[in-house]
Amino acid sequence: MKGILLAGGSGTRLHPLTLAISKQLLPVYNKPMCYYPLSLLFLAGIKEICIITTPHDLPLFQRLLKDGSQFGAHFTYRTQEEPRGIAEALLIAEDFIGQESVALVLGDNIIYGNHLQPLLLGAKERHGATIFAYRVKNPSRYGVVEIDSRGEPLRIVEKPKEFISPLAVTGLYFYDEKAVEMAKTLKPSMRGELEISDLNQLYLDEKELTVEQLGRGITWLDMGTHESLLQANQYIQVVEERQGLFIGSLEEVAYRQGWISHKDLEAMASKMEGSGYGATLKELV
Ligand code: TTP
Repeated sequence: MKGILLAGGSGTRLHPLTLAISKQLLPVYNKPMCYYPLSLLFLAGIKEICIITTPHDLPLFQRLLKDGSQFGAHFTYRTQEEPRGIAEALLIAEDFIGQESVALVLGDNIIYGNHLQPLLLGAKERHGATIFAYRVKNPSRYGVVEIDSRGEPLRIVEKPKEFISPLAVTGLYFYDEKAVEMAKTLKPSMRGELEISDLNQLYLDEKELTVEQLGRGITWLDMGTHESLLQANQYIQVVEERQGLFIGSLEEVAYRQGWISHKDLEAMASKMEGSGYGATLKELV
């Protein structure tokens, strides 16, 4: 399976923070924001990853993440000129995806918690598409999924004006090899975007959409506003300081996946010795 990290967009709700730099490069406690969603792809065992960002931010992403070989992974880069919708990522990455299945993750999402890895591996193996739903207090800000009493999806609505369900669709999507062809049939919405909710609805219409509900043992955060960005910073700091363990460390996940050796990890830790991040890596070693 291939992976896509979508890290474009305009980040207008975070101005002036994002006037000069991409939202997904902003710090979230001790690491850049995009580490968290990338680590989800790593946890799912996906190491062939296409990173999509704006032409302006591309050099910065390349400087930070390089070709991925330092993690035993492989990164390629594409750009999205304008934020024309999340589903456009599948079209931009068409040649990269080829005939394979693909997992798409948004660069400003954190998903963290108990028994996450088996959920990711299950989604990877499943036919059709899998999305993850999370109960939120303010669902009208998100794509929302309505389910029946057996947990089967009934419909998906982008930013519903009327309440239909508390279940927001998170920014992590697994698709089979039909995704690109299906994305090509999408028409831009009223706001001029190729909507990922429309693609998910297409899979639902074909009865090929699985909705995994993430329970209380799992935390989902997106970081689109000043408040939610600060909350994510605080959340990561509290949990990491308390446990002395990382959330979203690419070096750690790569090591645990067996993609890099003990010696590689040690070398990476030494390079960052001066920082708290390096110190925690050292302890891990
Ligand atoms: P949003 O938060 O909806 O948009 P944004 O990041 O541009 O921010 P704002 O609303 O403040 O202007 O996007 C969610 C994620 O998807 C985010 O990581 C950016 C990414 N994205 C793209 O890369 N391209 C797109 O065309 C869209 C719509 C989003």
